[in-house]
Amino acid sequence: MAFGWIDEQAELRRRAGLVRTLRPRPSNSPLLDLASNDYLGLARHPEVTDGAARAARDWGGGATGSRLVTGTTELHTELERELADFCGVEAALVFSSGYAANLAAVTALAPHGTLIVSDAGNHASLIDGCRLARGTTQVVAHADPDAVRKALGTHDGAAVTVSDTVFSVDGDAAPLADLAASCREHGAGLLVDDAHGFGVLGTGGRGAAEGAGLAGADDVVVTLTLSKSLGSQGGAVLGPARVIDHLVNAARTFIFDTGLAPAAAGAALAALRLLRREPERAARARAVAGELHARLTAAGLEAVRPDAAVVSVRAPSPEDAVRWAADCRAAGLAVGCFRPPSVPDGISRLRLTARADLSEGQIERAVRVIGETRP
Ligand SMILES: Cc1ncc(COP(=O)(O)O)c(C=O)c1O
Repeated sequence: MAFGWIDEQAELRRRAGLVRTLRPRPSNSPLLDLASNDYLGLARHPEVTDGAARAARDWGGGATGSRLVTGTTELHTELERELADFCGVEAALVFSSGYAANLAAVTALAPHGTLIVSDAGNHASLIDGCRLARGTTQVVAHADPDAVRKALGTHDGAAVTVSDTVFSVDGDAAPLADLAASCREHGAGLLVDDAHGFGVLGTGGRGAAEGAGLAGADDVVVTLTLSKSLGSQGGAVLGPARVIDHLVNAARTFIFDTGLAPAAAGAALAALRLLRREPERAARARAVAGELHARLTAAGLEAVRPDAAVVSVRAPSPEDAVRWAADCRAAGLAVGCFRPPSVPDGISRLRLTARADLSEGQIERAVRVIGETRP
């Protein structure tokens, strides 16, 4: 039978407790949300939704074409200018998703003959970028600048090190300054995915690279998503103008993809302007994460100390993690549930998001529910 192997895989998945299901979310969900990536609480901010609505009215429901044909509106270039200015880099290029931005950056910056040194904990989109790139990938130990230095030392030609700035599973930060130093010793480039750092780390949320003193460096390229701190949708690559020009000419997920929807660009631009005006949102997200961690740990739970806004709580098994998340949900709390194959080390976790707009009462309630439902 065609696709017969799918049923075998489904059965294996069921037996391992790894079946995934979709849960459509109503617009007025009563759940307390610690599962989304809306770190700054901007996705439903009236200025952000107005930005989306205005852009859709002015520019239409879609971008109408790829960026090099009709898909670049004045709104796209305005967003790119303001993103670059905010992050202190020469230029930015927006994509239809952070995933597409990562595929673009890795493939375009690692042609044939390039060594790609990739952290073992990197996000799937960076991993897929490595798989698609013509260069050769060497995976190195997690958050280990010495392993990076050693890998770079084995290669004579062009090289690039690829890393998340904040790892999505445990919320721990990469040692960016040390990574940059390792790369510089070998004349290699550094490409970092700041999906979970932008809006939370750095001065007023300018991101992890800015926080590590790397903003505007000519050997550092940053990718990010517009879908987390900015509460919108889409992705971006930021860096030296010559790198961005290269991507316009060589990145397949830029050239062969319809431009970012105007509504998403409008929402992201409104959110970026809000973040500029209210930089304290970044610090608040970090403070909420710290408080969640302290309270969870005091309640005897095994939580990883957060470096940004992701708080990870260990679960004994994939089945326990699923049951724990379901029990939280039944008690009115939405939490993320990470388990194999989405976790590189096989350890299942609850994944909590520390939103800047959570109140003290909500934090207290979340910790109480997680404690009361623990396996
Ligand atoms: C670290 C990281 N990089 C990239 C992405 C992909 O971004 P997007 O959702 O905009 O495609 C995500 C998740 O969404 C992520 O967590």
